[in-house]
Amino acid sequence: MTEKRQFQAIKGTRDILPAESALWNWFEQTAREIFETYGFRDIRLPIFEETWLFARSIGEETDIVSKEMFTFFKRSEPEESPKDLMQRLARQPARDLREEDLRALGDLLTLRPEATAGSVRAYIEHGMYTQPGNVKLYYIGPMFRRERPQKGRYRQFYQVGAEVLGPSDAPAIDAEMLEMLLVFFERVGLTKTTLYINSIGCHECRPKYVELLREELRKVKDQLGADSQRRIETNTLRVLDSKLPHEQAIIEKLPRISERLCEACREHFAKLKDELKLRNIAYQENWRLVRGLDYYTRTTFEVTAAGLGSQNAVCGGGRYDGLVELLGGPAGIKGIGFAIGTDRAILSLQESGHLPRLPSLEVFVAWMGATAYPVAVGMARKLRARGFSVELPPEEMKFKKSLGLADKLGARYALIIGEDEAASGTYTLKRLADAQQQKFSESALLEHLVSERGQGR
Ligand code: HAM
Repeated sequence: MTEKRQFQAIKGTRDILPAESALWNWFEQTAREIFETYGFRDIRLPIFEETWLFARSIGEETDIVSKEMFTFFKRSEPEESPKDLMQRLARQPARDLREEDLRALGDLLTLRPEATAGSVRAYIEHGMYTQPGNVKLYYIGPMFRRERPQKGRYRQFYQVGAEVLGPSDAPAIDAEMLEMLLVFFERVGLTKTTLYINSIGCHECRPKYVELLREELRKVKDQLGADSQRRIETNTLRVLDSKLPHEQAIIEKLPRISERLCEACREHFAKLKDELKLRNIAYQENWRLVRGLDYYTRTTFEVTAAGLGSQNAVCGGGRYDGLVELLGGPAGIKGIGFAIGTDRAILSLQESGHLPRLPSLEVFVAWMGATAYPVAVGMARKLRARGFSVELPPEEMKFKKSLGLADKLGARYALIIGEDEAASGTYTLKRLADAQQQKFSESALLEHLVSERGQGR
């Protein structure tokens, strides 16, 4: 029976059609080129990992882990739901986990909601900590979160991310990473951006601050919305992130982490700001920038861009100095990274209208006549070998129709090959924008096209 229903892409996913994918490829290629000049190398990670990896690193109480992950079972489905299983096991110290619990955990898989956890897992698994200096990685690919879809927010979205892992946590690493990010944004024409930075302290000073914050928040609990009320106990820092208008005045009066940082964190943050000034990087401090993932320590940052409405963060990142150890790697390894939301960056570029001129169809070979065809096939191959994008009609067409199609396809030139041209070895090249025509021998034609392209015409 034939299918009557029209299939559609799943809500929150989309097709990037060729008209747009050229822009995406250029964006990602530019990131590769720039990141490589800063010593970063490509890492290709699996699309799914153990659920537990994300729960441990991003944090069980975060929005991502508690409600946005696409999780499935490797084998048959057990009676206990993934959520119940994780919540039960999260409450137990790792050493008390029973073998069957560990097996059940290993059976639970999740489509990656981000790639820092996977990068750190790979770093540990392949003993990359034995490499000299810091290891610099970048990745490009899809991520998955079950969020409510809207402009700039999808369930399958794409990130271009970078991570630095190694023994050093020098603020110059943070600053150089931000320099690379902004050089990239400038190169692609994403100029109306703002960089926000913050320090959220370390395992020494943050717990004390969180305790104080919790105490203060409990005092004003009744004035807060349901989400914030819950977060006071489960994920206190995230209350600072609230967007609810009536909570803003309350939050403004809360104690700020910048006043509670330990000496080492305060110094790290001060040095980071010096390093940014040294590099002429403009930034704004935002003490409420706590980020939605639990692994951060010290530096956190976000970049917003114009033209995006409420989903205006095009990049987020920060330091995660304890994560390697937390995931079973050696102690003393530090980390920092960021991820750019490609969907949003591209949207912002499109809204600004600053789009590059990307390669399109260059030569349409308009041929007519049995003796012209083999010559046309040969010319198309030679032009393609020189890197030109060429369209060769598979069936004979009248010249008028051929030229009309060349125009519709947006070709820059039509190369006209009829029986006379085939016999004489001289071809007519028509520039479609102004209908200017010139005759060339084969070698002169190739030379002409190469030189026109060299001059960007
Ligand atoms: P994140 O802030 O969760 O950080 O995501 C980074 C960026 O991905 C966001 O700023 C946004 O542009 C984009 N993004 C996130 N969710 C969506 C969505 N549903 N639809 C469209 N775009 C989205 C991380 O993922 C961290 N792993 C970044 C990092 C790397 N931190 C350290 N290293």
